[in-house]
Amino acid sequence: MPAGSAVFAERSSGPWPKSMKHTSRSIIEKKKQGKRITALSLYDYPSARIAEEAGVDLLMVGDSVGMVFLGQPSTRDVTVEDILYHTRAVTRAARQTFVVADMPIHSYEDPETALQNAKRFIDEGGADAVKLEGGIKIQPQIQKLVAAGIPVMGHLGLLPQSTGSQFHVHGKTPEEAKAILDDAKALDRLGVFAIVLECVPATLAAAVTQAVPCPTIGIGAGAGTDGQVLVLQDILGIRSSVSPRFVRRYAKLEEIMKKAIRGYCRDVLRGKFPSHKESF
Ligand code: KIV
Repeated sequence: MPAGSAVFAERSSGPWPKSMKHTSRSIIEKKKQGKRITALSLYDYPSARIAEEAGVDLLMVGDSVGMVFLGQPSTRDVTVEDILYHTRAVTRAARQTFVVADMPIHSYEDPETALQNAKRFIDEGGADAVKLEGGIKIQPQIQKLVAAGIPVMGHLGLLPQSTGSQFHVHGKTPEEAKAILDDAKALDRLGVFAIVLECVPATLAAAVTQAVPCPTIGIGAGAGTDGQVLVLQDILGIRSSVSPRFVRRYAKLEEIMKKAIRGYCRDVLRGKFPSHKESF
């Protein structure tokens, strides 16, 4: 039995075989056991299948889908239907991995709207949890979701739904740092199971991580958080725009893809594809 297996749940529905699956409790347990949490933001079935086989703990269907996958200028044009569509694709592949659907802009403007949309991500999308950007300002929304039994992930620091495509470090002044720390404590008290810290100084992220019992997942927040998340396309090197400084590329897939596509086109143009063996 794997460590912490008592807090894994048996997935009881869905078209896939029953298997042990991460839950919000097993994610929290990882922090208690001093184990780091691995997370990726991705949006499609084959990527989710590969990420699960590679052993990632948590998948986010981030609203970064707008910029990374749909060619939009920011995350602000992403709709509930977009996240639902991509969440369904990801949850079809994720049998053990915990899936968090990102609630897009305007989908949680008041507690009732938040509940209706969160329920759709869980019931129709198959997500295990939802993520909302913001601190104490969205307390009523978080209370509503937690009271309904929906696992909620918080998101502090850089909030792309507010800042658009502007990327800069948040929490550099003592006032900003205190506000982020206070928001993190408030989110934890409200019952979120984890908090994303985006683009904040490493010292602040480490201080937040020490201050709250729930796990922190950093992106551009240094090494002192309980886990890390990056966008899959960024680590694979297939993102067209310039990557932020906090991204580490583990592959140059864009070059590999171009080479393969050029090879295919060359063979078609020269009449070398398909061959006799590839024909009926
Ligand atoms: O939209 C997203 O992908 C995210 C994660 C990177 C945290 O919010």
